[in-house]
Amino acid sequence: MPHPLEQLGDEALREIDSAPDEQALEAARIKYLGKSGSISAWGEQMKTLSKEGKPIVGKLLNEVRTAITAALEARAQTFHAQKETEGLAKIDISLPGTPREVGAIHPLTQMWDRSIEIFRRMGFALADGPDIENEWHCFDALNTPPEHPARNEQDTFYLADGRLLRTHTSTVQIRTMQAAPPPIRVISPGAAYRRDELDATHSPQFHQIEGLYVDENVSVADLKGTLEFFMRELFGADTAVQFRPHFFPFTEPSLEVYVKSKALKSGERWIEVAGSGVVHPAVFEQVNKARGDKAYDPEKWSGYAFGLGMDRLAMILFDIPDIRLFAQNDLRFLRQFA
Ligand code: DAH
Repeated sequence: MPHPLEQLGDEALREIDSAPDEQALEAARIKYLGKSGSISAWGEQMKTLSKEGKPIVGKLLNEVRTAITAALEARAQTFHAQKETEGLAKIDISLPGTPREVGAIHPLTQMWDRSIEIFRRMGFALADGPDIENEWHCFDALNTPPEHPARNEQDTFYLADGRLLRTHTSTVQIRTMQAAPPPIRVISPGAAYRRDELDATHSPQFHQIEGLYVDENVSVADLKGTLEFFMRELFGADTAVQFRPHFFPFTEPSLEVYVKSKALKSGERWIEVAGSGVVHPAVFEQVNKARGDKAYDPEKWSGYAFGLGMDRLAMILFDIPDIRLFAQNDLRFLRQFA
C-alpha cells in the first residue's frame, strides 16, 4: 500500500498535467505547495512524528515536492510555448518587413577620425577649448596686434559682451600651455568661425585640426617631417608636400602647406591645406605672463604649430566639390560615404 503522501503526490501530478490553462495551474500550485497547501501541511506534521518516522517521511516529502515543482514548471513551459505559436500564427510572413535605417559616419567626422588616428600614432594627445572665446586667447596671446585686420568686425563674429566666436583653433595652443608646462604634444580638432560669404569653398563655420609641439630643440625639420608623414598617410605614399613661406603673427618662420597627389581627382595642382610654423617667442612670453611663471622660457623651449583645414582635406580626399554639402544634410550626398 503506497504511503498517503505518495498518493497525494500522484494526485497533484495528475491535476497539474491536466490543468487546462494558467489559472488552473496556479490554483493547483496553491492547493499543494501554497502556505496552507496539503503538501505544506505534511511539512508541519513532521514535527509530531517519531524519531524513526521523521527521516522516512522527510525524504518522501522532499521527493514529492521536487516532482510537483518540476511538473508545475513543465506545464507552465507548455502554456508559454503554445502562446508563442499562436502569436506567430497571426503574423503574415508574406508582408514586407519594416526596413531598419542604418546610419553612417559623416564624411567630415570620418576625416577627423582618420586624422586623429594618424597623429595618435605619432604620440599626439587630444586637447580641447571652447568655441566662444575672448579676444586675449584668440588674438593678443597669439601675438596679433589690436590693429590686425582679423580683429575687425567685418571678419569676426563678436558677441554683445565683447567675446567672440574663435576665428581659428589656435586658441587651444594657448589654453593648453596655460594648463600644463612643457613638453607638449597635442592636436585639437574643432570648429572655427569667420564672417565669410557662404559659397562653394567658404563657410562661416569651418573646421580645423590644431597641432602644437613644444620641447627642447624643436625645428622646422620636425614640423615638415610630421606634416609630410601625415599627408602621405592620409592621401597615399605618392603625395607631394610643399612648404611655402608665409606670415602668421604667432609663428616665425611661417609656412603654408600645399599637397598634390596623382591618386586624387583634384590631384594635378597644388592645394593649400594648412598654415604652420615655429612658435613665436612672443607667444611663449604671453603664456608665461598669464601663468605667472617662466615655464615656457623661449631660451630653453621651442615648438612648432599647425592648423589643418579639415573641410578642405575632406573635400580633397572624397572629391567633394562644394563645402556647403557638409551641412545640408542631404541624404543622397551622405549615403555615398556609408
Ligand atoms: N590659425 C591659422 C589660420 O586659421 C592657421 C595656423 C597657422 C595655425 C600657423 C597654426 C600655425 O598653428 O602655426 O589661418
